[in-house]
Amino acid sequence: MTNKEKITKIRELAKEKNAVILAHNYQLPEIYDIADFIGDSLELSRKAANTNADVIVFCGVHFMAETAAILSPSKTVLLPDLEAGCSLADSITADQLKMWKSEHPDAVVVMYVNTSADVKALADYCCTSSNAINIVESIPADKEILFGPDMFLGAYVSKRTNRKMHIWPGECHVHAQFRNDHLVNLQKKHPNAELILHPECGCISQCLYMMSDGQLSNAKILSTSGMIAEVKSSESDEFIIGTEIGIIERMKREEPNKKYIPLKEDAICKYMKKINLDNVLLALQNMQHEISIPEDIRKQALLSIERMITIK
Ligand code: 13P
Ligand code: SF4
Repeated sequence: MTNKEKITKIRELAKEKNAVILAHNYQLPEIYDIADFIGDSLELSRKAANTNADVIVFCGVHFMAETAAILSPSKTVLLPDLEAGCSLADSITADQLKMWKSEHPDAVVVMYVNTSADVKALADYCCTSSNAINIVESIPADKEILFGPDMFLGAYVSKRTNRKMHIWPGECHVHAQFRNDHLVNLQKKHPNAELILHPECGCISQCLYMMSDGQLSNAKILSTSGMIAEVKSSESDEFIIGTEIGIIERMKREEPNKKYIPLKEDAICKYMKKINLDNVLLALQNMQHEISIPEDIRKQALLSIERMITIK
């Protein structure tokens, strides 16, 4: 079957089964072509909560499909490849979080959405890259905060909110590799380019320092969809992109006349790339692989996720 035939078949099956196809911004271009909606973690969670479809095919990674299953228990949530995991979500387990909480019994727990359902069930709040600052700001100033699992996002949020937090030492294997020298070298080569960075980047603290010092006047720190909105609305026509490089294809589609320079050319999330037309087709044909969450965990995790999707 050609890709064109696979796309036609997938769309036919989606219609027949009343399925909605949700795709993260890091997905392959052919997945954009079959998606009903493409977005960042927060947007995809909101879509999963509000859809009328019977089936959600999640073209993203495991924790995202779990979040959809927590929000929509009456729907069938399918992840086309169970190996689409996340190194950041794997950096904290429920047992580790239980232990951490026992050391700080009065603390409010804020967990990034890149965590398992078991971890979310132990959290007070979930957050994403686009609302982490607002969530932390909504917590009374006298409360101790445990923030995890991404240490770079944690450092960024702590600095921006001027709030001391206990931060879990987790990281994403793709974003942790971004270093300041990548940035300095590229800026020399492209002095007029606007820099847009994801807050999971390993160089985030250094960038914040350079921004406050006036050395980085043309830089923004944004979620993946925030980055897409920025390239569309900005007057710049050249951008250095500090995140997984799959997003550049999306930017080219949305804003084809601008130039995009990856901060690191090999910044590829192998988990996001597990999803392809073949396994999406199989997912719809065989209704596989269904993601379901035990009801007690689902109910506990739902509270923290609902807080996340209601705060901008
Ligand atoms: P966004 O919520 O910004 O899309 O980030 C998700 C993610 O996994 C980044 O690596
Ligand atoms: Fe997880 Fe990193 Fe992949 Fe995002 S890029 S899904 S944080 S492993």
